[in-house]
Amino acid sequence: MSEAGTTQTGDPIIQLKGVVKAFDGKRVIDGLTLDIQRGETIVVMGGSGSGKSTTLRLMIGSIEADEGAIRICGTDIVHANEEELNAVRLKLGVLFQSGALFNSMTLAENVALPLIEHTTLDREIIDIQVKIKLELVGLREHADKYPSEISGGMKKRAGLARALALDPQILFYDEPSAGLDPVTSAEIDRLIIDLSKKLGVTSIVITHEMDSAFAIADRMAMLDKGEMLIVEERAWFERVRDTEGEAAEKLSEKERLIRQFLRGDAEGPITDRKAATNYAEDLLGSPMPRETIPSVVSTRG
Ligand SMILES: Nc1ncnc2c1ncn2[C@@H]1O[C@H](COP(=O)(O)OP(=O)(O)OP(=O)(O)O)[C@@H](O)[C@H]1O
Ligand SMILES: [Mg+2]
Repeated sequence: MSEAGTTQTGDPIIQLKGVVKAFDGKRVIDGLTLDIQRGETIVVMGGSGSGKSTTLRLMIGSIEADEGAIRICGTDIVHANEEELNAVRLKLGVLFQSGALFNSMTLAENVALPLIEHTTLDREIIDIQVKIKLELVGLREHADKYPSEISGGMKKRAGLARALALDPQILFYDEPSAGLDPVTSAEIDRLIIDLSKKLGVTSIVITHEMDSAFAIADRMAMLDKGEMLIVEERAWFERVRDTEGEAAEKLSEKERLIRQFLRGDAEGPITDRKAATNYAEDLLGSPMPRETIPSVVSTRG
């Protein structure tokens, strides 16, 4: 048996099996199973309310699963005590949907915070660490600025520098490009790819942005009402997205729906058919008017 830190290739760094989570008696995660391999970048997609953020919160141990098993870096976090859970949390970096910087602190102070809280390192060593992390995200020259003095894209990068502070093995990103213009968003994509290559971290990225998803993913997963609809290599999704004409008509119902989701087609085999439209609404989350379905997909032109 190998130690958690020396997991052999092939042993998933994250394993979810039959995970269930209910809020007010309603199952929002319903038997979710997913293996994530060390070093890969996996993109998690799905309609609004399909359970993406909840899945992330379950994986980082900020909420508890009702049923099922979750193993992170070899630790069963469903049955772990607080001490074991904290040890796992130190291996995780999270970039939240909001960025979540402290406005009263400079960027350098924000990045230093986890190091001050969780290590016994000397101040000089912490300062060096902070410079390295800010350099990694291209913000070293802005170390002394306050969050209110920088752009949205820079805030995301600063949040990322803070997520990197403790040299995590796994990085979670919840909607990293939300609210950013297309160019800034592409810069964040580049950064996600760079960090994955340079640091060898495992990355889990939740996104609605199809351009981003295809730019960064090794594999892609689609959630549907708290269940895994499909997990495949990026090439599989590219093939489904790019299937045209007669070949598109031969795709299965599920593949055609995924195709429409990926392409953001206003018209397609799914919305053309009433019964299938119901299926699409079902699959894409809360009921929505037919004409708004494609807007779930692509917010970038
Ligand atoms: N703390 C909570 N209490 C009650 N319901 C919750 C809670 N957190 C999430 N939910 C519900 O669980 C479902 C899934 O929410 P979640 O935030 O995981 O969706 P999502 O896929 O991240 O959506 P979005 O794309 O809008 O961010 C939603 O119906 C949501 O209202
Ligand atoms: Mg969410």
